Amino acid sequence: MNSECLDVKYMLEWYLTAGVDETLGEVPFAAQTEKHQERTVPEIVKKIQEKSPPQPQEDERRAITALAQATIDACKNAREMCAGAKTLDELRAMVEAFDGCALKLTATKTVFGGGNPKAKVMFIGEAPGADEDRAGIPFVGRSGMLLDKIITAAGMKRDEVYITNVLPWRPPGNRTPTTAEVAICLPFLKRQIELVEPEILVLLGGSAANALLENEDSISKMRGKWMEYKTSAGKLIPVMATFHPAYLLRNVGQKAKIWVDFIRLKKKIL
Ligand code: URA
Repeated sequence: MNSECLDVKYMLEWYLTAGVDETLGEVPFAAQTEKHQERTVPEIVKKIQEKSPPQPQEDERRAITALAQATIDACKNAREMCAGAKTLDELRAMVEAFDGCALKLTATKTVFGGGNPKAKVMFIGEAPGADEDRAGIPFVGRSGMLLDKIITAAGMKRDEVYITNVLPWRPPGNRTPTTAEVAICLPFLKRQIELVEPEILVLLGGSAANALLENEDSISKMRGKWMEYKTSAGKLIPVMATFHPAYLLRNVGQKAKIWVDFIRLKKKIL
Protein backbone atom coordinates (compact mmCIF):
# COMPACT_ATOMS: atom_id res chain seq x y z
CA MET A 1 0.00 0.00 0.00
CA ASN A 2 1.49 3.39 -0.95
CA SER A 3 1.74 6.13 1.66
CA GLU A 4 -1.26 8.14 0.36
CA CYS A 5 -3.53 5.04 0.62
CA LEU A 6 -2.19 4.43 4.12
CA ASP A 7 -3.02 8.03 5.04
CA VAL A 8 -6.58 7.61 3.78
CA LYS A 9 -6.89 4.26 5.62
CA TYR A 10 -5.59 5.94 8.79
CA MET A 11 -8.09 8.78 8.41
CA LEU A 12 -11.04 6.43 7.82
CA GLU A 13 -10.05 4.34 10.86
CA TRP A 14 -9.91 7.51 12.88
CA TYR A 15 -13.43 8.47 11.75
CA LEU A 16 -14.78 5.01 12.64
CA THR A 17 -13.17 5.22 16.08
CA ALA A 18 -14.80 8.60 16.57
CA GLY A 19 -18.22 7.13 15.64
CA VAL A 20 -18.41 8.66 12.15
CA ASP A 21 -19.66 5.74 10.07
CA GLU A 22 -21.67 7.50 7.40
CA THR A 23 -20.72 10.11 4.80
CA LEU A 24 -23.05 12.99 3.95
CA GLY A 25 -20.85 15.02 1.61
CA GLU A 26 -17.52 15.25 -0.11
CA VAL A 27 -15.84 17.34 2.58
CA PRO A 28 -16.05 16.61 6.33
CA PHE A 29 -18.33 19.12 8.06
CA ALA A 30 -16.01 19.78 11.01
CA ALA A 31 -13.06 20.35 8.72
CA GLN A 32 -15.23 22.63 6.57
CA THR A 33 -16.42 24.79 9.45
CA GLU A 34 -13.27 24.84 11.57
CA LYS A 35 -11.59 27.53 9.52
CA HIS A 36 -14.56 28.16 7.22
CA GLN A 37 -12.69 26.63 4.34
CA GLU A 38 -12.59 23.36 2.48
CA ARG A 39 -9.55 21.11 2.83
CA THR A 40 -8.24 18.34 0.65
CA VAL A 41 -7.90 14.80 2.06
CA PRO A 42 -4.08 15.05 2.51
CA GLU A 43 -4.57 18.36 4.36
CA ILE A 44 -7.11 16.80 6.70
CA VAL A 45 -4.86 13.76 7.29
CA LYS A 46 -1.94 16.10 8.10
CA LYS A 47 -4.12 17.99 10.57
CA ILE A 48 -5.23 14.77 12.29
CA GLN A 49 -1.65 13.52 12.49
CA GLU A 50 -0.53 16.80 14.02
CA LYS A 51 -3.12 16.46 16.76
CA SER A 52 -2.72 12.79 17.63
CA PRO A 53 0.62 11.11 18.46
CA PRO A 54 1.69 8.41 15.98
CA GLN A 55 0.28 5.04 16.97
CA PRO A 56 2.58 2.03 16.84
CA GLN A 57 1.99 -0.14 13.80
CA GLU A 58 0.70 -3.68 14.30
CA ASP A 59 4.16 -5.29 13.97
CA GLU A 60 5.63 -2.77 16.44
CA ARG A 61 2.79 -3.48 18.86
CA ARG A 62 3.43 -7.22 18.54
CA ALA A 63 7.17 -6.72 19.15
CA ILE A 64 6.50 -4.61 22.28
CA THR A 65 4.11 -7.27 23.65
CA ALA A 66 6.65 -10.03 22.94
CA LEU A 67 9.40 -8.05 24.71
CA ALA A 68 7.22 -7.43 27.77
CA GLN A 69 6.31 -11.13 27.88
CA ALA A 70 9.99 -12.14 27.54
CA THR A 71 10.86 -9.86 30.50
CA ILE A 72 8.06 -11.32 32.64
CA ASP A 73 9.19 -14.87 31.74
CA ALA A 74 12.85 -14.07 32.50
CA CYS A 75 11.95 -12.57 35.93
CA LYS A 76 9.86 -15.63 36.80
CA ASN A 77 12.58 -17.97 35.60
CA ALA A 78 15.25 -16.12 37.65
CA ARG A 79 13.04 -16.17 40.78
CA GLU A 80 12.34 -19.90 40.46
CA MET A 81 16.00 -20.76 39.82
CA CYS A 82 17.23 -18.69 42.77
CA ALA A 83 14.86 -20.24 45.25
CA GLY A 84 16.72 -23.53 44.77
CA ALA A 85 20.21 -22.10 45.49
CA LYS A 86 21.41 -23.31 48.89
CA THR A 87 24.89 -21.77 48.76
CA LEU A 88 26.59 -18.78 47.14
CA ASP A 89 28.54 -21.16 44.87
CA GLU A 90 25.29 -22.73 43.64
CA LEU A 91 23.83 -19.28 43.08
CA ARG A 92 26.95 -18.14 41.20
CA ALA A 93 26.67 -21.18 38.90
CA MET A 94 23.00 -20.35 38.28
CA VAL A 95 23.77 -16.73 37.39
CA GLU A 96 26.55 -17.87 35.05
CA ALA A 97 24.16 -20.31 33.33
CA PHE A 98 21.25 -17.83 33.13
CA ASP A 99 20.40 -16.63 29.61
CA GLY A 100 17.43 -14.39 30.35
CA CYS A 101 19.29 -11.06 30.35
CA ALA A 102 20.64 -9.72 27.06
CA LEU A 103 23.46 -7.87 28.86
CA LYS A 104 25.25 -11.20 29.13
CA LEU A 105 25.72 -11.17 25.34
CA THR A 106 27.79 -7.97 25.39
CA ALA A 107 29.62 -8.54 28.69
CA THR A 108 33.02 -10.26 28.82
CA LYS A 109 32.52 -11.88 32.22
CA THR A 110 29.77 -12.51 34.75
CA VAL A 111 30.63 -10.45 37.83
CA PHE A 112 29.19 -12.20 40.86
CA GLY A 113 29.61 -10.83 44.38
CA GLY A 114 32.78 -11.38 46.36
CA GLY A 115 34.30 -11.05 49.81
CA ASN A 116 33.42 -12.61 53.14
CA PRO A 117 30.39 -14.89 52.58
CA LYS A 118 29.41 -14.37 56.23
CA ALA A 119 30.04 -10.61 56.28
CA LYS A 120 28.27 -8.34 58.74
CA VAL A 121 28.15 -5.58 56.12
CA MET A 122 27.18 -6.03 52.48
CA PHE A 123 27.84 -3.29 49.90
CA ILE A 124 25.72 -3.17 46.74
CA GLY A 125 26.63 -1.15 43.66
CA GLU A 126 24.88 -0.74 40.32
CA ALA A 127 26.73 -2.80 37.71
CA PRO A 128 30.26 -3.76 36.72
CA GLY A 129 32.30 -1.21 34.80
CA ALA A 130 34.99 -1.95 32.18
CA ASP A 131 37.63 -3.03 34.73
CA GLU A 132 35.22 -5.32 36.59
CA ASP A 133 33.98 -6.77 33.29
CA ARG A 134 37.56 -7.74 32.43
CA ALA A 135 38.43 -9.06 35.90
CA GLY A 136 35.10 -10.71 36.78
CA ILE A 137 35.35 -9.12 40.25
CA PRO A 138 33.19 -6.24 41.58
CA PHE A 139 34.68 -2.83 42.37
CA VAL A 140 38.28 -3.30 41.22
CA GLY A 141 38.58 -0.14 39.09
CA ARG A 142 38.84 3.50 40.17
CA SER A 143 35.49 3.39 41.99
CA GLY A 144 36.65 0.25 43.77
CA MET A 145 39.85 1.93 44.95
CA LEU A 146 37.86 4.78 46.45
CA LEU A 147 35.44 2.30 48.01
CA ASP A 148 38.39 0.47 49.60
CA LYS A 149 39.57 3.75 51.17
CA ILE A 150 36.09 4.50 52.51
CA ILE A 151 35.72 0.96 53.92
CA THR A 152 39.09 1.30 55.66
CA ALA A 153 38.17 4.72 57.04
CA ALA A 154 34.98 3.19 58.46
CA GLY A 155 37.14 0.74 60.43
CA MET A 156 36.67 -2.35 58.24
CA LYS A 157 38.82 -4.33 55.83
CA ARG A 158 37.74 -5.18 52.31
CA ASP A 159 38.04 -8.93 52.96
CA GLU A 160 35.70 -8.64 55.96
CA VAL A 161 32.80 -7.27 53.93
CA TYR A 162 30.80 -8.66 51.00
CA ILE A 163 30.56 -6.58 47.82
CA THR A 164 28.17 -7.11 44.92
CA ASN A 165 26.07 -5.30 42.30
CA VAL A 166 22.44 -5.19 41.22
CA LEU A 167 23.51 -6.44 37.78
CA PRO A 168 26.13 -9.13 37.27
CA TRP A 169 26.83 -7.95 33.69
CA ARG A 170 28.23 -4.65 32.44
CA PRO A 171 25.76 -2.54 30.44
CA PRO A 172 27.48 -1.54 27.16
CA GLY A 173 29.32 1.76 27.53
CA ASN A 174 28.37 1.84 31.23
CA ARG A 175 24.90 3.08 30.34
CA THR A 176 22.24 3.17 33.06
CA PRO A 177 20.51 -0.22 33.34
CA THR A 178 16.96 -0.40 32.05
CA THR A 179 14.02 -1.16 34.35
CA ALA A 180 13.66 -4.56 32.66
CA GLU A 181 17.35 -5.47 33.19
CA VAL A 182 17.10 -4.54 36.87
CA ALA A 183 13.85 -6.50 37.31
CA ILE A 184 15.35 -9.61 35.67
CA CYS A 185 18.54 -9.57 37.78
CA LEU A 186 16.99 -8.52 41.09
CA PRO A 187 16.02 -12.06 42.22
CA PHE A 188 19.73 -13.06 42.07
CA LEU A 189 20.69 -10.10 44.26
CA LYS A 190 17.88 -10.80 46.73
CA ARG A 191 18.96 -14.44 47.03
CA GLN A 192 22.59 -13.34 47.59
CA ILE A 193 21.37 -11.19 50.50
CA GLU A 194 19.47 -14.15 51.96
CA LEU A 195 22.51 -16.42 51.70
CA VAL A 196 25.03 -13.93 53.14
CA GLU A 197 22.60 -12.82 55.86
CA PRO A 198 24.35 -9.48 56.52
CA GLU A 199 23.44 -7.36 59.53
CA ILE A 200 23.71 -4.17 57.50
CA LEU A 201 23.25 -3.30 53.82
CA VAL A 202 24.99 -0.31 52.25
CA LEU A 203 23.51 0.75 48.92
CA LEU A 204 25.92 2.63 46.68
CA GLY A 205 24.06 5.08 44.46
CA GLY A 206 20.50 5.71 43.37
CA SER A 207 20.13 2.64 41.10
CA ALA A 208 20.92 0.15 43.87
CA ALA A 209 18.77 2.05 46.38
CA ASN A 210 15.79 2.37 44.04
CA ALA A 211 16.01 -1.29 43.01
CA LEU A 212 16.15 -2.72 46.52
CA LEU A 213 13.94 -0.22 48.34
CA GLU A 214 11.44 -0.20 45.45
CA ASN A 215 11.13 3.55 45.24
CA GLU A 216 12.06 6.34 42.86
CA ASP A 217 13.55 8.75 45.42
CA SER A 218 16.75 10.59 44.60
CA ILE A 219 19.95 9.47 46.30
CA SER A 220 20.34 12.96 47.78
CA LYS A 221 17.04 12.44 49.59
CA MET A 222 17.81 8.90 50.79
CA ARG A 223 21.50 9.10 51.71
CA GLY A 224 22.71 8.84 55.28
CA LYS A 225 19.38 7.69 56.76
CA TRP A 226 18.73 4.34 58.33
CA MET A 227 16.00 2.47 56.46
CA GLU A 228 14.98 -1.20 56.34
CA TYR A 229 14.99 -3.94 53.73
CA LYS A 230 12.65 -6.91 54.20
CA THR A 231 13.82 -10.28 52.87
CA SER A 232 11.33 -12.71 51.34
CA ALA A 233 11.44 -14.61 54.66
CA GLY A 234 10.32 -11.40 56.42
CA LYS A 235 13.66 -10.57 58.10
CA LEU A 236 14.32 -6.83 58.44
CA ILE A 237 17.84 -5.65 57.65
CA PRO A 238 18.99 -2.07 58.40
CA VAL A 239 19.95 -0.26 55.18
CA MET A 240 21.91 2.87 54.48
CA ALA A 241 22.08 4.41 51.01
CA THR A 242 24.94 6.69 50.11
CA PHE A 243 26.56 8.22 47.06
CA HIS A 244 28.18 5.89 44.54
CA PRO A 245 32.00 6.17 44.54
CA ALA A 246 31.94 6.90 40.77
CA TYR A 247 29.74 9.92 41.48
CA LEU A 248 32.23 11.10 44.12
CA LEU A 249 35.09 10.77 41.65
CA ARG A 250 33.21 13.14 39.33
CA ASN A 251 31.98 15.44 42.13
CA VAL A 252 34.85 15.77 44.56
CA GLY A 253 32.99 18.46 46.50
CA GLN A 254 30.46 15.86 47.67
CA LYS A 255 33.05 13.59 49.31
CA ALA A 256 32.52 15.06 52.78
CA LYS A 257 28.94 13.74 52.74
CA ILE A 258 29.97 10.12 52.26
CA TRP A 259 32.37 10.43 55.23
CA VAL A 260 29.43 11.61 57.35
CA ASP A 261 27.42 8.58 56.18
CA PHE A 262 30.26 6.20 56.96
CA ILE A 263 30.79 7.62 60.43
CA ARG A 264 27.12 6.84 61.04
CA LEU A 265 27.73 3.34 59.67
CA LYS A 266 30.78 2.86 61.88
CA LYS A 267 28.74 3.80 64.97
CA LYS A 268 26.11 1.22 64.05
CA ILE A 269 28.67 -1.55 63.57
CA LEU A 270 30.38 -0.96 66.94
N1 URA B 1 30.46 0.52 39.69
C1 URA B 1 29.60 -0.34 40.24
O1 URA B 1 28.45 0.00 40.53
N2 URA B 1 30.01 -1.57 40.46
C2 URA B 1 31.23 -1.99 40.18
O2 URA B 1 31.53 -3.16 40.41
C3 URA B 1 32.14 -1.07 39.64
C4 URA B 1 31.73 0.18 39.39
